[in-house]
Amino acid sequence: MIQIIDLHKKFGENHVLRGVSLTVNRGESFALIGASGKGKSVLLKHLIGLMKPDKGQVLVDGEDIGQMRGRKLKALKDRFGIVFQFGALFDSLTVYENVAFPLQEKTKHSAAEIDKIVRRELANVDLEEAADNYPAQISGGMRKRVAVARCMVMNPEVILFDEPTTGLDPVISNSIYHMIQNLRNTDNLTSFIISHDIPGIFKVVDRVAMLHEGKIVASGTAEEIQNSDNPVVRKFLMGEIE
Ligand SMILES: Nc1ncnc2c1ncn2[C@@H]1O[C@H](COP(=O)(O)OP(=O)(O)OP(=O)(O)O)[C@@H](O)[C@H]1O
Ligand SMILES: [Mg+2]
Repeated sequence: MIQIIDLHKKFGENHVLRGVSLTVNRGESFALIGASGKGKSVLLKHLIGLMKPDKGQVLVDGEDIGQMRGRKLKALKDRFGIVFQFGALFDSLTVYENVAFPLQEKTKHSAAEIDKIVRRELANVDLEEAADNYPAQISGGMRKRVAVARCMVMNPEVILFDEPTTGLDPVISNSIYHMIQNLRNTDNLTSFIISHDIPGIFKVVDRVAMLHEGKIVASGTAEEIQNSDNPVVRKFLMGEIE
């Protein structure tokens, strides 16, 4: 569903992406791993047109998003949900209001329909009890789950996560992984997850690719990557590249 072909991106002299090629299939749960500061978030931004490549292409269902403008680009973005590292919730709205927000802004659903969808998605991430709390009153992991529920109300085809577990303790990380596992069972939902949580991430994804020096140096099933004999991958898994 997503095809990245020979993607290059430079910031001044900093040649971050140096020919990334990668395919993400519809319905799979995919993880991008790699050392800090090496371009994972930059790559993610290219997937929804927030950044334009210097060279190369990103195709979604065969269409080059670099060529899309205006309404067409907006329609494409509506097919993606993004969960940013810090959740990016509205602090002055309750959990319930945060999740209802995109439905109120972007759809013509009645209040009763909105209520039904919001309750369903809050239940899916185990947050019914927190509906009336404000973001400041809940934990970091809960905030992330709210951000996921807020994406899911819009029925995205693809959900993008930038570091879903960074900065969270192991128990809360587990609750996030549990949620990612559940999403994996959502019909046809494609998830693309950036993570440097090794080995945690391997349990919850179908395929993994590793970004190193601006290129994909390895890709395969989680098991293949864990058993890889590529020295760069081995070093990274042992915590020797960071
Ligand atoms: N808008 C920008 N302008 C200039 N340089 C940028 C911009 N965005 C990112 N960079 C640079 O691109 C490089 C890659 O950044 P990126 O945020 O993609 O790293 P990352 O792999 O996501 O790291 P982390 O795992 O720490 O989140 C860094 O050197 C960063 O300084
Ligand atoms: Mg990043």
